[in-house]
Amino acid sequence: MKFPAEPFRIKVVEPIKITSSEERDELIRKAGYNIFLLPAESIYIDLLTDSGTSAMSDNQWAGIMLGDESYAGSKNYYHFDQTIRDIFGFEHIIPTHQGRVAENLLFSNLLKQGDVVPNNIHFDTTRANVEYHQAVALDCVIDQARIPSEPHPFKGNMDIEKLEAVIAKYGAPRLPLIMITVTNNSGGGQPVSMQNIREVKAVAQKYNIPLIFDACRFAENAFFIKEREDGYEDKSIKEIVREMFSHADGCTMSAKKDGLVNIGGFLALNNAKLAEKITNMLILIEGFPTYGGLAGRDLEAIARGLQEVLDENYLRFRINQTRYLGEMLIREDIPIIQPVGGHAVYIDARSLLPHIPQAEFPGQSLVIELYKQAGIRAVEIGTLMFGGLDPQTGKERFPELELVRLAIPRRVYTSMHMQYVAEAIIEIARNRSALRGLEIVYQAQMLRHFTARLKPKAN
Ligand code: F0G
Repeated sequence: MKFPAEPFRIKVVEPIKITSSEERDELIRKAGYNIFLLPAESIYIDLLTDSGTSAMSDNQWAGIMLGDESYAGSKNYYHFDQTIRDIFGFEHIIPTHQGRVAENLLFSNLLKQGDVVPNNIHFDTTRANVEYHQAVALDCVIDQARIPSEPHPFKGNMDIEKLEAVIAKYGAPRLPLIMITVTNNSGGGQPVSMQNIREVKAVAQKYNIPLIFDACRFAENAFFIKEREDGYEDKSIKEIVREMFSHADGCTMSAKKDGLVNIGGFLALNNAKLAEKITNMLILIEGFPTYGGLAGRDLEAIARGLQEVLDENYLRFRINQTRYLGEMLIREDIPIIQPVGGHAVYIDARSLLPHIPQAEFPGQSLVIELYKQAGIRAVEIGTLMFGGLDPQTGKERFPELELVRLAIPRRVYTSMHMQYVAEAIIEIARNRSALRGLEIVYQAQMLRHFTARLKPKAN
């Protein structure tokens, strides 16, 4: 199937406001050339994130009406708990209001100063939560993941030699857990193979270290395994998921991704003692163990979303829609991370705009042009996000890759919307020499990209 036709029909529509390019010029100037500071209403196609932006199904909305808002023992909690045990196979399920709280609860109870946590690549909040506990977050992904054009089928894989070297260097007692992020968001939404999961598990077992998955995009990862790994083509997504997670001792989950909901998450564990300790902390910071910061109706929507996301027809559409956008760009020689990942297309802005020095934010320049020209919101994952002064040396630092992420919300946009996005990017690329760099006029000390204000560089 070349054209990814939607396996659903549209029953409710949300009109999108159409703005003129003159209006957008004014709005982006007022927002200090920072797309985080734009009113969302002024955006035509919002590809800022795939997190919490999914469209729920009629079945999920029906579940919302069946919300049991009892403080303790809501019937939706039992459904939520049962569904997660059935899909993932873990013993203890702790609801949280989003993924980073699951991380915080886990790390608060496992990490101490000087500990080390390897991962394929830590997502920002995971890294920040590890570092908050004065532990070290190490990325051990395979080298191919760092080369945008390298066509490896499982670019999210952990490098086993790097993992062994970390254990040899620090000693197993300083590693309270090993993590794997499926799919690997920060490396381009790239999958991890079952083979690699087995290999990481063997290392973890050898040293008696718990293996925890960051499970945000677990179903998308399982689909890639079915599509690309020998021996899995005839297995159902549910069987593949069950096998993936049979190798883990627990997982953190942001249901805002593959839970197909707008809010929610959980922590799942097999270790009863640890689960008990964390549940006590949950009561302190999130809520009673049968709601964990969520309404009963949210728990119901998650339970239903987790079942729906296993549907192979849905996943085929989902992965192919992202690929469809990527392939339209590849055909016009727009440099992107290849192969195309599960939830987003990542443009290599440095290759696309070689005339803009990294210090002048080529990725942000592309993001701004996309908004001005077409009302599309993408996000820079480059110097604005990860640059700034190095606290150790006091010098300006630059990330290895200068990317622009086009994250695709689940079941929200049609393939025609994707064509519109591709055409806008191709048009901008044709006139790329007109794009100029930017300079910062205000920045916060930490996480500057959220609030920074910029202005275009003078010619
Ligand atoms: N882990 C991964 C791999 C993520 O992508 C995210 C969120 C989280 C953890 C945290 O989950 O937002 O529910 O607290 N990623 C979003 C993104 C924000 O845009 O990629 P959360």
